[in-house]
Amino acid sequence: MNRILFDQETIKRRVQELGREVSSDYSGKEICVLILLKGAFMFASDLVRFLTTKVSIEFMKLSSYKGKLSTGQVIIEQDIDCDIQNKHVLIVEDIVDTGLTLNKLIELLKKRLPASIEICSFLNKPSKRKAFVDVKYIGFEIEDVFVVGYGMDYCQMWRQSPDILIIDSDG
Ligand code: IMP
Ligand code: MG
Repeated sequence: MNRILFDQETIKRRVQELGREVSSDYSGKEICVLILLKGAFMFASDLVRFLTTKVSIEFMKLSSYKGKLSTGQVIIEQDIDCDIQNKHVLIVEDIVDTGLTLNKLIELLKKRLPASIEICSFLNKPSKRKAFVDVKYIGFEIEDVFVVGYGMDYCQMWRQSPDILIIDSDG
């Protein structure tokens, strides 16, 4: 049986808090919300509803994962088609694990000269970090467990779950 780590009510409350925090930090500014596909789609769609500043929404697709193991390589599968120069970019991610993906992405995006760049990740697994990433906004810190749901997958399954689950060994 799968175990619920965070249920939908807990998630909703935390996402609302994050939305308020981001809105207050960016008060009077326009945010370019850069959503990382596919995993962050559900978190981001909930989070942006609580943003009270001006917001534009962009999507980017990176890959670095095969099954449960990180390959350590980051490939841009889909880039944004807008210019982020002088914009306040807020990257929205599902989970930071080794940090390799975001470390590379930040390096790449900085070359495009945004006014600022911050990360908002629903989950953070600090015990697995291999590369430095400064994650300003974090929903929850978790232990070294593999989770699914609320946008996150195991072999493309379980993304639709409104709760965050720890899947049983036969996945
Ligand atoms: P990393 O920080 O470069 O290792 O990669 C983070 C990405 O790995 C996340 O965006 C997820 O797509 C995936 N990932 C890491 N841990 C998990 C997990 O527990 N469940 C589902 N996906 C995960
Ligand atoms: Mg991801």
